[in-house]
Amino acid sequence: MTLATGHPVRHFDRIDSTNLEARRLAEEGERGPLWLVADQQTLGRGRLGRSWVSEPGNLYATFLFAIAADPQAAAEVSFVAALAVHDAAVALRPGLSPRIKWPNDVLIGGAKFCGVLPEVVGGSPTRIAIGCGVNIAHAPQGTPYPVTSLGAGLAVASVLAELDASLARRLAQWDEGRGFAAIRAAWAAHALGLGGKVTAMAGAKQLTGTFTGLAADGALMLQEADGTLTPIHSGEVSFAELEALRRKHA
Ligand code: BTN
Repeated sequence: MTLATGHPVRHFDRIDSTNLEARRLAEEGERGPLWLVADQQTLGRGRLGRSWVSEPGNLYATFLFAIAADPQAAAEVSFVAALAVHDAAVALRPGLSPRIKWPNDVLIGGAKFCGVLPEVVGGSPTRIAIGCGVNIAHAPQGTPYPVTSLGAGLAVASVLAELDASLARRLAQWDEGRGFAAIRAAWAAHALGLGGKVTAMAGAKQLTGTFTGLAADGALMLQEADGTLTPIHSGEVSFAELEALRRKHA
């Protein structure tokens, strides 16, 4: 099967993880661009070493492609992908105002409906796998954060087609990093908690301050009351705006 952009799709009824399959293919020399899509994953992987519940009815897809930019630019792709999910959700459900939680969770009303797992899976040329899990028919139970779904009325194939189209547009805008300033601005326009209170871990130290923006490399910039600016590169981050939103929707 081939999508309207010309990107081919390799479909699996059941697989361990589409990101793992992307890595295996990259090791065999595959460059993409190529979508790997599964109805079900037995070893779905999430951020921060978590697993991703992958029962039939939702979208489990990985886009494998090569970049000419150096591997550091891969960090930027995380924001490109989150924006693409945002755009696709708005196209599919025009009334929605999805928000992006740093770096790449996409939420509706404070509840997550999509997670993105970008990984560098090969070198020379750098190959990137963008794994996307989109809740459509159902939202898994027992997650450490509130979850929701786009709604069972949508076909998985329509979500994939829309996501592919928006990802192609945002990757063109990113332009191997030359357009990252525009991506960063678009991301910020839909980001949760920007300008508000944020709590994050910097090594073993918990920091609380203001989320002032993104660094050039995509790090979250946290400014403490004394003016100290600290870039946060990974880990769980808590935003006061998100907590308030969740209380409102509880
Ligand atoms: C997150 O924890 O927010 C990221 C979740 C990413 C899940 C997707 S589903 C398709 C791809 N294959 C995986 O094993 N993980 C990603």
